[in-house]
Amino acid sequence: MIFKEGRRQSATMMPFANMLDDQQVLDVAAYYSQLEVTPGQGGDKADEALLARGEQLANRGDWDAYIVSCKSCHGPGGMGVGSDFPGIASQHAGYIQAQLQAWKDEERSNDPQNLMGSIAKRLSDDDIQAVSAWYARQNASQAAGE
Ligand code: HEC
Repeated sequence: MIFKEGRRQSATMMPFANMLDDQQVLDVAAYYSQLEVTPGQGGDKADEALLARGEQLANRGDWDAYIVSCKSCHGPGGMGVGSDFPGIASQHAGYIQAQLQAWKDEERSNDPQNLMGSIAKRLSDDDIQAVSAWYARQNASQAAGE
């Protein structure tokens, strides 16, 4: 719905989102939510130091830079909390990175109170790469206790 309203922008997604009516959006979302989670890709090339920084941002944040831990909203291991805080574990590293970059560049602005926008602005490009690589390597099913 967010792509349809133009609040999230993607030249690739827009034409497809526009083809769906609201019921179809719900159907497709329900379908994907039932699928088994596959391991994320794109985090394999990350070195130890990068992953350590990613883990720090994810679980503890960086108070010197006023960065709250991702875990405080996205839950342990990025498994997601309720319907407002999406799971981010084992998404493709490139996707996570692109989303954070889009918020930083103010190209994505659909989130409540610009929560993600204000966080992404405090992340350096290296931070974005680090935290994306770390989350891509987390196992969403395990984090959810399945
Ligand atoms: C204050 C709460 C909060 C914190 C802290 C937070 N997030 Fe988020 N995040 C959200 C909300 C709310 C959304 C859903 C936005 C929307 O509606 O698209 C979101 C969405 C996302 C998405 C998009 C998921 C998708 O499927 O498109 C990514 C990626 C993400 N967050 C990564 C992070 C990372 C990495 C951190 C830590 C550096 C972080 N978030 C910290 C609240 C938070």
